[in-house]
Amino acid sequence: MTNSASQKTFPAESPPPQGKKTPQSGRPGELEKSPQSGRPGKLRNMMGIETSCDETAVGIVDQRGRLLANVVASQSDLHSRFGGVVPEVASRQHLLEIPGVLDRALRQAGLGWNRIDAIAVANGPGLAGALIVGVNVAKGLAAALDVPLIGVNHLAGHVYSAWIDTGSGTAVQDPEIPAPKADGPTRTCLIVSGGHTELILMHPDGRFRMIGQTRDDAAGEAFDKAARVMGMRYPGGPEIQRAAQTGAPSAPLPRAWLRGTDDFSFSGLKTAVIRRARQEGLYPPPGGGPPKDKADALARAFQESVVDVLVNKTVEASERLGSGEIVLAGGVAANSALREALVQASKIPVAVPPPWLCTDNGAMIAMAGLVELNRGARSGWNLDVHPGMRLAS
Ligand code: KG4
Ligand code: ZN
Repeated sequence: MTNSASQKTFPAESPPPQGKKTPQSGRPGELEKSPQSGRPGKLRNMMGIETSCDETAVGIVDQRGRLLANVVASQSDLHSRFGGVVPEVASRQHLLEIPGVLDRALRQAGLGWNRIDAIAVANGPGLAGALIVGVNVAKGLAAALDVPLIGVNHLAGHVYSAWIDTGSGTAVQDPEIPAPKADGPTRTCLIVSGGHTELILMHPDGRFRMIGQTRDDAAGEAFDKAARVMGMRYPGGPEIQRAAQTGAPSAPLPRAWLRGTDDFSFSGLKTAVIRRARQEGLYPPPGGGPPKDKADALARAFQESVVDVLVNKTVEASERLGSGEIVLAGGVAANSALREALVQASKIPVAVPPPWLCTDNGAMIAMAGLVELNRGARSGWNLDVHPGMRLAS
């Protein structure tokens, strides 16, 4: 188990560490001949395809969850001029990018198609038109290769990104996953992304139960909206993180504690940011751009407010529920202030993927697909997209 936030950053496309090629035997991942697959034998490598929002991504893990490839083509530059993701633009761009991304992933892993033994794809939640691209590509590949197809929940992918073995020694060491266990610790998972903010209890056997969620904006959405008010680019999270590092301390912004619940709310904070941005002459954006020192100070106050609430509520819930570990995942989990504050505040280990596996990627879908496949899950050719898919209820 990891008990510290890994700060290791290398680009999403950097080759995975060497010496990690798959031994061709052993569990987990034994793959019997499925009704849908004519290719018998053992699972060696799982490919994951992710197109739920504005990243076209393909990852490959071996049967032990070791990372072999992770290629992400981000569309953020394309959407940045609109201040957010334009669904139609995203779908078309996935269509254009996916062949090249598939190719690069295979080359990065040093594998041919004959070494891919199953295809996982995120089929929800996300943008319908964007998901359809990934799902149809996955169906075509699974049919052509005669291997199993596994539709996975994008949010499960975020959680299982903490299980990916990148060779840095920070992955969740849980050789029993996905074999069901009667005992073992529960995990409190905080998923914070552009579309979701959820506290989820993960049982030892891998089942998920919803504990709390945002009642309005997701944490990432709050970062993106606040950044726009401060005259920063989309996506706002990394911009705010950078600005906050040089921002001077200022009066705290409000925190919505929603005491007695495990829910979150960020809409009041957004309103407070807009109000202060107006007072400080940052918004509407003045000619010549907003004054940097004021924007930086506001970014710092905003980030402190979000981190304070996320950390305190997660630690409180994990203690009340008697969890043995906290898992932090999703795009906002890339935020260094959040990672550090949670590790510091928690008495139990905190598992958090390296920042480059927090934002959307294909490796996390491959990892979740591996877990699902080992549980016996297979999808049929009628696999559909579910834009509103939930991880747990
Ligand atoms: O998980 P993700 O890549 O996509 C969704 O599933 O939504 O999350 C994207 C979100 C965006 O809102 C982005 O601003 C936020 O994650 N984000 C960050 C950071 N990096 C990305 N938020 C705060 N700090 C960061 N360093
Ligand atoms: Zn995501």
